[in-house]
Amino acid sequence: MTEPLLAHGQLAGLDEIAHTGVDSTRGGYSRHVFTPAEFELREWFVERAVRLGLDVETDRNGNMWAWWGQPGPDAVVTGSHLDSVPGGGAFDGPLGVVSALDAVARLQATGFLPTRPVAVVVFAEEEGSRFGVACLGSRLLSGAITADAARVLTDADGVSFAEAASAAGLDPNQLGRDHESLKRIGLFIELHVEQGVGLIHHDSPVAVASSILAHGRWRLRVTGQGNHAGATGMRERRDPVVAAARAVLAVEDAALASDDGRATVGRLRIVPGGTNVIASSVDAWLDARAATDVATRALVADISDRITEATASSGCSVELIEESWSGVVEFDAELAARLSGTLGGVPLLPTGAGHDAGVLSGTVPTAMVFVRNPTGVSHSPEEFASADDCIAGVEALEALLRSVL
Ligand code: GLV
Ligand code: MN
Ligand code: MN
Repeated sequence: MTEPLLAHGQLAGLDEIAHTGVDSTRGGYSRHVFTPAEFELREWFVERAVRLGLDVETDRNGNMWAWWGQPGPDAVVTGSHLDSVPGGGAFDGPLGVVSALDAVARLQATGFLPTRPVAVVVFAEEEGSRFGVACLGSRLLSGAITADAARVLTDADGVSFAEAASAAGLDPNQLGRDHESLKRIGLFIELHVEQGVGLIHHDSPVAVASSILAHGRWRLRVTGQGNHAGATGMRERRDPVVAAARAVLAVEDAALASDDGRATVGRLRIVPGGTNVIASSVDAWLDARAATDVATRALVADISDRITEATASSGCSVELIEESWSGVVEFDAELAARLSGTLGGVPLLPTGAGHDAGVLSGTVPTAMVFVRNPTGVSHSPEEFASADDCIAGVEALEALLRSVL
């Protein structure tokens, strides 16, 4: 049995993985699914779970489940993810996994005997940083993406998800909706660092989630004419980098003109990418979010129109291709209110960030707990949660587990 140790001001589990996946180029952490850093985190998780006497299994979609008691129906499941965005923070994902393990350790330390099976879960590829589709593990589990669509996703090196899954010991033919695992989940509670400033405003260390913005990802492919930087006059060019730059400005204009919609181009790929080369094509990835499905679709339609207009004279062709979609999530209000009440009436908080809990909310009873992030910054090394707030998060999770077990 392991005590939930504290060291260096954070939860011990965060300290134990603090050196895994450090990205010395970008800063922060790069822990992408089925890469050496992520495999190391998986090993850490198994070792940690086994020390608590949990039985660990990996499902056919690469999600890991550590069972306290016999796996079975009506289980209370808690956890999050261990993968990161490129150059991400230490808390997005791991805080939920570490807190779940610590909450179980605390329950065990008091001799608590659960009346339902309990599992700590680690979902695979939550960020979609390697294969482009966020929450890939929970989408496959719940059938929100088909196995056929997932198998052909590729990473930046052209490795398919099927190949990477196979190299990770999974059978690509067994990917897809996993009714057996799904039907065991009676309740899923995901604890997560807050990714905005809501809890700072509420002056509370924790909150229960109320909703998630609708969001999706699109690829903007701009095709021009590759050419020589010195031999091609400025008026003879079809330069996709210039067209993409105008497109990015159009994205910002559309989001600013919307009702609090958010649109981001955070990744560009210039082909071939030489200083003295006019590029032949550019891929720009768009992330767009808004309060409702309709508002998000309207924002993307407006973006599309503005891009067409902004690039009309570029001589380049421009295509906007949808890569993934997540409709708005309204968490079960009764459940959220009940959990908030169990925690003494902590705030109910909406979020603009996507989560596995959001994907699963359409299929199983689901709730989320947020832990205050004093920087309000996430997907960046500046993401933070204080030791006191991390402990408040574990205590909240422990209290919630006690209340439902
Ligand atoms: C995940 O953190 C997302 O909101 O993209
Ligand atoms: Mn994230
Ligand atoms: Mn996350």
